[in-house]
Amino acid sequence: MLTGRHLIEPGNFTLDEMDRLFKLAEQIEEDPAYLRDSCRGKVLATLFFEPSTRTRLSFEAAMLRLGGSCLGFAEPGSSSVAKGESLADTIRTVSCYADAIVMRNPKEGAALLASRYAEIPVINAGDGGHHHPTQTLTDLLTIRQLRGDIGNLTVGFCGDLKFGRTVHSLAKALSCYPHIRMVFISPPELKVPAYIKTGILEKEGIEYRETDTLEKVIGDLDVLYMTRVQRERFFNEEDYIRLKDSYILNREKMEPARKTMIILHPLPRVNEIALEVDQDPRASYFKQAKYGMYIRMALLASILGVPDGAALYMQK
Ligand code: CP
Repeated sequence: MLTGRHLIEPGNFTLDEMDRLFKLAEQIEEDPAYLRDSCRGKVLATLFFEPSTRTRLSFEAAMLRLGGSCLGFAEPGSSSVAKGESLADTIRTVSCYADAIVMRNPKEGAALLASRYAEIPVINAGDGGHHHPTQTLTDLLTIRQLRGDIGNLTVGFCGDLKFGRTVHSLAKALSCYPHIRMVFISPPELKVPAYIKTGILEKEGIEYRETDTLEKVIGDLDVLYMTRVQRERFFNEEDYIRLKDSYILNREKMEPARKTMIILHPLPRVNEIALEVDQDPRASYFKQAKYGMYIRMALLASILGVPDGAALYMQK
């Protein structure tokens, strides 16, 4: 049962619990009216200390479609944080007004801290360069929908693998699925952190390799996960400018790719996927954004307590 639970990082939910969420999201996609009123009378607080389009709006759309309501802020300047209020006091206060909190914060570990002070479930919508677990649920649902299964896949992660929290979360989650191989494609300065490689992949016996050349490996991939270079995490603008266009996926670079490969991107995109690639049937990033709303509907309904019918469905 997910009722009342926090979601701070992948690993908080078991594979079985995630599988139930995917099934519920698929049911909602098939019948958008399913669970329509399951959150009537419930309030979701969205506390965004960093910019967002997809995560905040898909959570709010999800809650509204479930019959609930939303409150919150989209930038910290409009909350009492601007007057110096601590995160702990903010969370304690919001716990009095809402039934669940979705929070994005630039500090790694902020969501975990919030969960320790909250009286209600906290969902991490991104904590610095650390984790973004609901993007991972979105990514896994998209893979499952477009590839039929999550397993026996070669997944290439390309771009800013150092600061890209969606990469860290997805690599961690995928390491729990069978026969996953990973290829990390980045400039040397933006390699995936050692804690992911030694602390997760090597521990789980996951086959992985690193390269700085997309063209060398694109033909081996089942999933290509493109990411933008995370300007906001750089200490030095010159480094960002030097690295920002390290990879630009275009039609020519796609030529050696498999016909069945899917291109994912958590978005926002800056320059790393040329607009001409959007016409390629393998470009799946806008479908991915839509799946983000369905999985967040499934997640909110489950965390806030789904009605009996849905609970029965989820047990199937
Ligand atoms: N994927 C993602 O987190 O997008 P936003 O920053 O727009 O929420």
